[in-house]
Amino acid sequence: MSFVDSQSTQKQTDIKRLEPSAASLSSIRFFIPFAMVYRRKIIGACVALLMVSGAMLSMGQGLGYLVDKGLGAGDPAILDRAVVVTIMIAALLAIGSYLRAVLVNQVGESIVADIKRTLFAHMVHLHLGWFETARVGDLLSRMNTDTTIMREVLTSSLSGAIRNVMVLVGGLVLLILASPKMSMVVAVVVPLVVVPVIYMARRLREASRLAQEKVGDLSVSAEESLSSMRLIHAFGQETTQKRHFAGRVDEALKASLRSVHLRGILSGIIIFLVFCGIAIILWIGGQDLMAGTITAGDLSAFIFYSFLIASATGGLSELAGGLQRAAGAADRVSSLLQTQSELIEAENPAPLPNPEAINVSLTNLNFSYPARADVPALHDINLHITAGERVALVGPSGAGKSTLFHLLLRFYEPDSGEIRFNHVPSQALSLHSLRSAIGLVPQEPALFSASLFENIAFGMPEARLEDVRLAAQKAEILPFIEGLPEGFDSFVGEKGIRLSGGQKQRIAIARVILRNPHLLLLDEATSALDSVSEAAVQRALTNLMQGRTSLVIAHRLSTIIDADRILLMDNGQLVGQGTHDDLLTNSPLYRELALHQFG
Ligand SMILES: Nc1ncnc2c1ncn2[C@@H]1O[C@H](COP(=O)(O)OP(=O)(O)OP(=O)(O)O)[C@@H](O)[C@H]1O
Ligand SMILES: [Mg+2]
Repeated sequence: MSFVDSQSTQKQTDIKRLEPSAASLSSIRFFIPFAMVYRRKIIGACVALLMVSGAMLSMGQGLGYLVDKGLGAGDPAILDRAVVVTIMIAALLAIGSYLRAVLVNQVGESIVADIKRTLFAHMVHLHLGWFETARVGDLLSRMNTDTTIMREVLTSSLSGAIRNVMVLVGGLVLLILASPKMSMVVAVVVPLVVVPVIYMARRLREASRLAQEKVGDLSVSAEESLSSMRLIHAFGQETTQKRHFAGRVDEALKASLRSVHLRGILSGIIIFLVFCGIAIILWIGGQDLMAGTITAGDLSAFIFYSFLIASATGGLSELAGGLQRAAGAADRVSSLLQTQSELIEAENPAPLPNPEAINVSLTNLNFSYPARADVPALHDINLHITAGERVALVGPSGAGKSTLFHLLLRFYEPDSGEIRFNHVPSQALSLHSLRSAIGLVPQEPALFSASLFENIAFGMPEARLEDVRLAAQKAEILPFIEGLPEGFDSFVGEKGIRLSGGQKQRIAIARVILRNPHLLLLDEATSALDSVSEAAVQRALTNLMQGRTSLVIAHRLSTIIDADRILLMDNGQLVGQGTHDDLLTNSPLYRELALHQFG
């Protein structure tokens, strides 16, 4: 079973994992599988691009013809015909441009939507330890800003670039056909342009990646501050926060200005070189015209092509910058997608046998959090909980009580030792069957910005209103809900901000009651309730715990007295167990806790 082996080495690299490896243009390969889905539309877009560039190039031929045969020969019929042909070409250009814009943007938007979907789907399944090193704001920035950059580059820049390449190649070919001598000039100018582009592009790539990272920092800082507004106001820290954020904005601005600056220099250099080339072409062409070796029409076509080529090259330089930006963005996103979940399901996961009566045993369990690998959060825990037993867990703050829950839920893998549910090692069980057997009321109830109904039905989205109502009733929250004008449809605000602490907790309890699990993990479930509702919730919990295995992190005397057994934890260790009276006589630590915590 390989899921244990690789774990400790992975812990060390956890923090570095989010740093993308040096971005390179090969990161663009990232898009290939996403693009393949839309290959038909992409081919359509290429055809449209061919139309556009073909039309643009034929304009030059038309121009030469017009000058020589129409203007030069003074034939009005040819002038008429030339105008008609030009209008037809223009129509072709318009249709091609329309098709190109529609197809390219459709493909770009769809690819970016797919990337977002894939990214979210990937992150949802990552192990929970990973989210301690990742920063939510940064993840959001990768999901939004980076994908926006990709979309911009994929749509406007890339399609413009393909057109430019076609125009460039076509223009060059026509130029060479028209005058081999001119082509020599071109042969000198092109490398002159390409070399600085390559050099600058490398610096630009670094600069734009840095700029994106700063945007990520910015988003982290905004996310944190905006979601802690109550705290900021309570401590009067508005000005400090403003200053902090402004500082971050400045850093991000500086970084992106640098990248903009480099982009500007890049296109400046290219345009200068290209127009130098054109000047030389004009000079040589002018000589030839005076010597009579070429016609005025040839020269007109020539100048037209030169300008096309010049603007195409200028456009390509923009693309060089764009591609670098996209490569940076692709890197940041693909490094997320490459993050492997450390929580690996067994190859043939077993369903939990007999989920109506769950016993739990822990043997020699050791665990430390990835972020604090040197301090054991749990040390050598040995424990057996029989089915239907009601166990209270007590201990000073930081003793490891919540951590024990995290391991039971398989949020983290133990460093060593084993957890068995109904005698099956937890790593052999299917995560789904394990977690659907467990009901968790966490220390800080988490609510979504949705209705009360949706929050209670969170674990069972298909639940009917009657069931949700019943669960709310059992959790003693029904009178409150029915007193609201919109009842179960009431919106609870972001993270449940419109509810009191005790109400949130009872919602969390109702959520568990609805799922009807047979192993209950209650983390200080009654800590935020007034004494009347506490008594009510206590009744609800007592009923709920009937016949179910339950593990309660208790801060209340009543919970402790009702328990079949009390476990005393300290410093990650199990330091005592027994009944309330046993522990009172045997454990000085327990006596102290009993005196101060439980009254
Ligand atoms: N994600 C984490 N990364 C690193 N250390 C952590 C993490 N979560 C908790 N710890 C540490 O592990 C130890 C045990 O924490 P735990 O949350 O299990 O305590 P607890 O017994 O539930 O305390 P309380 O009664 O205050 O809730 C503490 O020292 C805590 O600082
Ligand atoms: Mg805790």
